[in-house]
Amino acid sequence: MLEIIKFANLLTISIMIILFFFPALQSSPPAEAIRSSASVIPETSSFFFRKAAEFKNVKDEICNPSFVHVAMTLDVQFLRGTIASVHSILLNSVCPENIFFHFISSDTENDLISLIKGVFPSIKLKGHYFNPEIVQKRISSTVRQALEQPLNYARNYLAHLIGEPGVERVIYLDSDVVLVDDVSKLWEINLQSAILGSPEYCQANFTKYFTHKFWSQEKFFKAFSGRKPCYFNTGVMVIDLVTWRKNGCTKKIERWMEIQKDYRIYDLGSLPPFLLAFAGKIAPIDHRWNQHGLGGDNLRGNCRQLHPGPVSLLHWSGKGKPWLRLDSGNPCPLDLIWSHYDLYGSSL
Ligand SMILES: *[C@@H]1O[C@H](CO)[C@@H](O)[C@H](O)[C@H]1NC(C)=O
Repeated sequence: MLEIIKFANLLTISIMIILFFFPALQSSPPAEAIRSSASVIPETSSFFFRKAAEFKNVKDEICNPSFVHVAMTLDVQFLRGTIASVHSILLNSVCPENIFFHFISSDTENDLISLIKGVFPSIKLKGHYFNPEIVQKRISSTVRQALEQPLNYARNYLAHLIGEPGVERVIYLDSDVVLVDDVSKLWEINLQSAILGSPEYCQANFTKYFTHKFWSQEKFFKAFSGRKPCYFNTGVMVIDLVTWRKNGCTKKIERWMEIQKDYRIYDLGSLPPFLLAFAGKIAPIDHRWNQHGLGGDNLRGNCRQLHPGPVSLLHWSGKGKPWLRLDSGNPCPLDLIWSHYDLYGSSL
């Protein structure tokens, strides 16, 4: 009997869905302008993903009736990563039916939400449109063009994009992460009085995230007076949406982006305004929830190892992405963990 069930599951998993997307021939919506590097976008106009198994709560009575809300961005460039992330969250959750995904997208050409629903038939989700014009006028040119896509700044606006009553907290995740632990543990973290929770790295040299111009003028660096700022990575954040709104955090971040346009107080993209608004005031989360840097260094994309300690989430931040290295036939050892959750391509 068990054998039959296993076999049936295998069959379900191996049923392939093929979805075709044809870019609109005429219109050029605002989303068009945001794509910085065409080489990373799949060459074909069709995306092939396998259908994942249906995810059911292991034991309904142990599942909290309220939802775990997870927000991620959704675009063509990181689609394969987003799908692997979602897959990893569902696979490692005891109560997958209680997870609600919020997908933030600026894409008006491709029906990516339908694609996600096709891959994960039992997923609970909502799509939120992010107008790239909101940030386009505030973005300055920086060293790494890829960091300058408006969608990278969507995390600034989560408290406004996700406005449903009753959704008071959200977990924001980058599209180059996989979880190897139950997301509900991250969800239940105590934020105390903080607006935002994230793993904190107080050994990192905080100075380097801002330019000399920033550190040489008091009107800028006094922003950190009265707090001990530490670096944190904005790829994994637990956000209290209610206190975020109450404290006008989006406006604070936007104000720093406007200062950046005139004074160039930092070199990176969406991260420094978050550090300015929150560093030294966050609820520190265990480092197991962001084993970051697995993409390798920004110049050569060298392989990286895990940091010492337990692992609940792996993050391929940095230049190299596991799907690109796997496709090139030259993956890093840890990329094989990512490939376990990959649903791209044919299973045959
Ligand atoms: C931190 O970084 C700054 C700027 O890159 C550098 O000048 C400084 O020497 C560094 N400090 C330490 C302790 O490494």
